[in-house]
Amino acid sequence: MPDFTRKTSHTPADRMRDINPFRVMTVLERAKALEGQGRSIVHLEVGEPDFVTAQPILEAGRDALARGCTAYTPAAGLLSLREAISGHYLRQYGLRISPERIFVTPGASGALSLLAQMLLNPGDGVLMTDPGYPCNRNYVRLAGAQAQLVPVTAIENFQLNASLLSQHATSSTRSVWLASPANPTGTVLSLQQLRALHDWCVENDCHLLVDEIYHGLDYTEGLPTALQISDDVFVVNSFSKYFGMTGWRLGWFVVPDSLVAVSNILAQNLFIAASTVAQHAALRAFDTDTREILEARRLDFAARRIFLTKVLRELGFSVPVETQGAFYIYAGIEAFSTDSEHFCKVLLEDFGVAVTPGTDFGEFESSRHVRFAFTTSMRQLEVAAERLRAAVLSGALSS
Ligand SMILES: Cc1ncc(COP(=O)(O)O)c(C=O)c1O
Repeated sequence: MPDFTRKTSHTPADRMRDINPFRVMTVLERAKALEGQGRSIVHLEVGEPDFVTAQPILEAGRDALARGCTAYTPAAGLLSLREAISGHYLRQYGLRISPERIFVTPGASGALSLLAQMLLNPGDGVLMTDPGYPCNRNYVRLAGAQAQLVPVTAIENFQLNASLLSQHATSSTRSVWLASPANPTGTVLSLQQLRALHDWCVENDCHLLVDEIYHGLDYTEGLPTALQISDDVFVVNSFSKYFGMTGWRLGWFVVPDSLVAVSNILAQNLFIAASTVAQHAALRAFDTDTREILEARRLDFAARRIFLTKVLRELGFSVPVETQGAFYIYAGIEAFSTDSEHFCKVLLEDFGVAVTPGTDFGEFESSRHVRFAFTTSMRQLEVAAERLRAAVLSGALSS
C-alpha cells in the first residue's frame, strides 16, 4: 500500500485509503508466477468463463474491424445494440423496455461506477450484503458515500430481505444494491422476494439497484429480472459472463425514464462511449446460433456445479445452499481452518489449487469461507478434486 503519512507530489488522494485491493487478482498473479516456474496449477479462483468468446461474436468483431468501424459510437451505445438488448428483454422476460432507457457501458464495472456517481451524495449509505462483490464497496466509497454491510447467512439464502434492511438502515441510507445471482454465494432472488425488497425501498425512499450480470447462468427455472417489478429500479448487466466476453469490456444498465438525460451526460463525460468493435461484435450475441453455443456452455457449468458440490461436501467442506446461479461455490472451511487466507495460501503453494479467500468479499465470517469458481474444465476439476483430497488428508490446511 502507498504511504499516506508523508505528503509528496505523488501521495494519492485521501479517499484512496479506504480502497482495498481485489485479493483474487493477487491469488491469480501468484498462481501465474508458480506456473511460470513450471508448476501445474488448477485455477478455481477466476470469475470468468474458461471458453473463448463464441465464434459468431468473434466473426462479427473481425468483420467490424475489416469494415473500419473504429470511431466513437454515441455515448449510450449503438442504437442497434440497444434495440437488440431491448429485444432480449422481450424474448427472455416478456418485457417491453425502451432502448432509450438502456445504456451500453465498458463492462458492468462501467455501469456500476457511473450509477454510484449518479445516485449517491457524500455521506449517503448504501445497504449491501456481506459477503458480496468487493468492488461495489469501492464504487460507493469513491462517490463519498458509505457501504452499509449487512451480514447474511445461509438462513436467508445469503440475500437481503425487508427485515434485514429495516434492522441495518440508518437515517443516511439512500440505496440498496443487490445481485441475483450473487457473487460469491451463487444465490438468487425470487420475484416475490424482489417485490418485497422493492416495496421496502419505495417506503423508505431508497433506490433499488440490482446487478444481474450472472443472468443466463442460472440453474433454476425462470429467473426474474427486477425490471418485472417496476420501471423505477436500476438494473446492471454485462456481456462478460453468460455471453463469454470478459475481455471485450462491454455491459449495460437500464434506468428509469427520468434519468435518461443525466445518464447520457455522465456517460459522455466518464468514458465517451464503450468499445465500438465490442459493440458490433455483441450484436451477434442474441442470435439463435450464438444462443445455442451459450446454452451448451451453461449446461457444462451446470454439470461442473454438481460435480464440485459433491466433491466438496464429501471432503468435509460445508455447502449449506446449492449454487442457483453464476459459477461459484461459497464453501465453509470450519472443519479445517479459521484462517481462509492461510488456507488458500497452503492450497496454492503446496497443492497447486488456486481458490479465493472469503476475506475478499467482506468481513462477516469471511475467514471461515473460501470461494471456488468452477470456471475450468471437468478434467481440471477432477485433478482439483484429487489435490483437495490430498490436502485434506495431509492435515496441512489446519490453522
Ligand atoms: C457481481 C459482479 N458485478 C460486476 C462485475 C464486473 O463485471 P464486468 O465489468 O466484467 O462486466 C463482476 C465481475 O466479476 C461481478 O461478479
